[in-house]
Amino acid sequence: IHENSESASHYVACEIAELIRSRQKEGKNVVLGLATGSTPTKLYDYLVRFHKEEGLSFKNVITFNLDEYYPMEPDSIHSYVRFMKEHLFDHIDIPAKNIHIPDGTLEKEDVRAFCLDYEKKIQQAGGLDIQILGIGRTGHIGFNEPGSSLGSITRMVRLDRVTRLDAASDFFGLDNVPTKAITMGVGTILSAKRIIMMAWGEGKSDIIHKAVEGKQRESIPATFLQNHPNCEVITDRPAASALT
Ligand code: F6R
Repeated sequence: IHENSESASHYVACEIAELIRSRQKEGKNVVLGLATGSTPTKLYDYLVRFHKEEGLSFKNVITFNLDEYYPMEPDSIHSYVRFMKEHLFDHIDIPAKNIHIPDGTLEKEDVRAFCLDYEKKIQQAGGLDIQILGIGRTGHIGFNEPGSSLGSITRMVRLDRVTRLDAASDFFGLDNVPTKAITMGVGTILSAKRIIMMAWGEGKSDIIHKAVEGKQRESIPATFLQNHPNCEVITDRPAASALT
């Protein structure tokens, strides 16, 4: 529990930077699983700052984003491709070939093969070293909405109404929010060597309490993180206010 999201984001950024530097010394890559949304923006600000001010290089970093709306054009203002470029990728020296984001432009019949290939690519890269997560009000991680199983892998999902309502203002109305998304599965996320879930603000306090202290169940997919041997939940004070 940190004083605020600023210091919490700095803490996470420092851990990532340290891992990148130590792997660089060994001539090895770092594989990061990344999230979008309001939660990780300060983390990305710090990583960009470390690149610009301290010369932190991302040449040995490979990234896999958690999810993308479906359908979604990459240059749409709502796409997670655009979000990642604006907040991180356009400001650092990561090679374009190292960036992976689920493709919202696929034909329906090609989605399954794409998802299986996404899983394969994560494994071929050596697996996720650190997976960054936010948490939705439904308890979703990635877009694994209530009902997602422990072993689920990358796939097309239907978004929960609560998730779509939360996105409605960004999309200028609920009707414009896509009903589907492509997301890494709960199993994909749990395969990461380390997981860092972040949550800020009082609005997240109830779901953080349920995720951390509640019973494990499919109706709150974030509770499955309790199974992971190396998962840290980072909050500011308001988001931790319902913990007992
Ligand atoms: C985003 C993602 C989602 C968000 C969650 C919280 O890639 O996978 O699970 O992390 O919806 O969103 P914010 O951070 O906007 O509260």
